[in-house]
Amino acid sequence: MAERWTPDSWRKKPVLQVPEYPDAKALADIEGQLATFPPLVFAGEARNLKKALARVAAGEAFLLQGGDCAESFAEHGANNIRDFFRVFLQMAVVLTYAGALPVVKVGRIAGQFAKPRSSPTEKINGVELPSYRGDIVNDIAFTAEARVPDPRRQLAAYRQSAATLNLLRAFATGGFANLGSVHQWMLGFVKDSQQSRRYKELADRISDALNFMRACGLNLESHPELRATEFYTSHEALLLGYEQAFTRVDSTTGDWYATSGHMLWIGDRTRQLDHGHVEYFRGIKNPIGLKCGPSLKPDELLKLIDILNPDNEPGRLTLINRSGADKVGETLPHFIRAVQREGKSVVWSCDPMHGNTITSTSGYKTRPFDRILSELKSFFEVHAAEGTHAGGVHLEMTGQDVTECIGGARAITDEDLNDRYHTVCDPRLNAEQSIDMAFLIAEFLKQGRERKAQPLPAVAGL
Ligand code: TRP
Ligand code: MN
Repeated sequence: MAERWTPDSWRKKPVLQVPEYPDAKALADIEGQLATFPPLVFAGEARNLKKALARVAAGEAFLLQGGDCAESFAEHGANNIRDFFRVFLQMAVVLTYAGALPVVKVGRIAGQFAKPRSSPTEKINGVELPSYRGDIVNDIAFTAEARVPDPRRQLAAYRQSAATLNLLRAFATGGFANLGSVHQWMLGFVKDSQQSRRYKELADRISDALNFMRACGLNLESHPELRATEFYTSHEALLLGYEQAFTRVDSTTGDWYATSGHMLWIGDRTRQLDHGHVEYFRGIKNPIGLKCGPSLKPDELLKLIDILNPDNEPGRLTLINRSGADKVGETLPHFIRAVQREGKSVVWSCDPMHGNTITSTSGYKTRPFDRILSELKSFFEVHAAEGTHAGGVHLEMTGQDVTECIGGARAITDEDLNDRYHTVCDPRLNAEQSIDMAFLIAEFLKQGRERKAQPLPAVAGL
């Protein structure tokens, strides 16, 4: 029988990836302050996202989730947010059009600060210091002072999240995301590329369709669904003290919700059945994600599903598979068969980034565009073979013109990485690579649609 859950019941369990704060009282004070701050999101919004994800689970929609590996304090600015949102909208339009399905839009943004690390310390030229754990914990500068976890950073992360979310809400509903502006989302630096031509073609077709409907007498202004979009936030809920402070009772239902973001996920490194992260997640009612890496076994996955979604509520749980291009064909079918056999409802999403990270000859952590694409392709193929819905993608991407992942239409090489390698954590797809990827995913969606549209083979006697 499960023990009683409280927002702090995770504290009685082992917890991995915890920063070592030197001053426990200072940490407790900050957490106490955070607990008095206004929530960033409202429970009703989290429920709406859950409903949208239930449609994904039913094969009636597609999930696009993406953003920075880690947000940073230094890069917080309006242009950065706008450029990200613009590319995200372009991708969403491409996928909506190709898949002829609604796209559920979820950013890795407005709270994506804490990072799990493979090693608690980092060694450079013989000097060993605590690892950088994201701006919400410590500073990336390689000095002993900078690497000391500072709880005041949690206040800064909260304020940055609030400001970012505020701008995103303004963009999503204030006119920026109007489908009539579909041409204006083209970014300056993609103008002469093949993707920009492709995108322009698509934007032309959308404008034509809108003009046609207008000519037919439809008053487009009276259709808010054309003028605005729903955009949700998500992050890895790694720093449980911070999350606890924002765990609040929803007065309309009496249920507990995480209010630091709409959707939270459990990382592949912190998904142990009897540990603190799983304990925290089982008590909140938000839609949640679970990263599924190659070491996860199908029976363990089923146990996690039982704990995290005991009522088998559609839209509650998104499995974010991150096997790596060469392993996905082996591991994913076993997950799918186990889940299908037990009749569990999940959203199947693919994170093609984290299993495909390599160190380039020049020493940069990078991801080859082809490997990312290859994992996605296998993901779609496996689902087609199993008869399940390839429901979504989870990407690390930015609206900026960085050089962090090699390959893509503009063929970024190992030598190019040094030009604009800006990430504070993992390598991201740049704006052009992101749109490129959206068009390629769109092909997979279209193929799936055509497969479904094919007449069923004739059955003798009918
Ligand atoms: N409201 C619809 C949606 O979110 C259509 C839409 C409006 C849209 N603006 C958009 C779709 C921008 C993609 C991108 O799906
Ligand atoms: Mn990452």
